[in-house]
Amino acid sequence: MNNDVPENAPSITLDKLPIEKDLSDFIYESIDASSFINVNAWSEFFDSIPVDPYIKDGYRYKAIAWFRIKHNKATAIKEIDERILAINKLSKMNEDESNQYTSNGKPTWKSEETGYECWNLPQYAMQQSILYNPVHGDMRREYPRISENIINSEDFHQLLIHYASFFGWSDAIVLVQFQRVDCFANRIGQPTVEGFHQDGNRHVGMLIVNRNNIANDSGVSQYVMDNNGKKTDDLIFNSVIPSGTLIYWNDKRVWHYGTDIKVADVNANGGRGTRDIIIMSAKTPPANMPMGPVKLQPE
Ligand SMILES: [Fe+2]
Repeated sequence: MNNDVPENAPSITLDKLPIEKDLSDFIYESIDASSFINVNAWSEFFDSIPVDPYIKDGYRYKAIAWFRIKHNKATAIKEIDERILAINKLSKMNEDESNQYTSNGKPTWKSEETGYECWNLPQYAMQQSILYNPVHGDMRREYPRISENIINSEDFHQLLIHYASFFGWSDAIVLVQFQRVDCFANRIGQPTVEGFHQDGNRHVGMLIVNRNNIANDSGVSQYVMDNNGKKTDDLIFNSVIPSGTLIYWNDKRVWHYGTDIKVADVNANGGRGTRDIIIMSAKTPPANMPMGPVKLQPE
């Protein structure tokens, strides 16, 4: 913990193809992200995220963005380029523009230190397979974009690079979700609508940005082990992850859940409590790649 450079992670350099982290013995690891990024600077943005229209009780707020992060020494994964082109086509994007988002286009930015290159992708919808999300599976969900100020900030780039370097992938699509859940004295907030679950990723990163006026014993992160595709019962992790902490977990090995959030002090903050998090999930084929077309413009 408390390291800039992830423990047990391969060191990633400009001139060497990364060696991917061995996930067979990896369950989870938490890192103090406040040691290398100023998480507080992103707090304000959560206030401006509109309510998630797909959650009927209205306690969730979500903004997303998609990225492709590839090491400069890695050969592009063909299926990633094909997928980007296919979704761009469904979005009625012209071919020239579409090609700019593939590995043949110019990366939006590069990390000179690690050799990772990043393409900011269009505002694809989320369209998750029903295999992974019985509540929202296969439904196309459109969300607003994370603010360009954040997306273009050095700290945000550091966060993406940290995730890529921790796992040492060669080429992946990364979905980043900024998510707030709120609660009032007479209404709890549910960080995990579907209960204990997996999302069909290989690994996930979650950064807790803020816990504001919520009870200490609420919004608790919990993991149980997977047993051949089935959830087991014993909690192997059962803790409140504090603000500024980044946790990576193996989505194949564990099922995750966040307990309901409850207001700490009904007389503070207008009786409202909030929990703000960032979720990052990298997708490399044949993994679940829940990309749907961008919002169609009226003709
Ligand atoms: Fe999840």
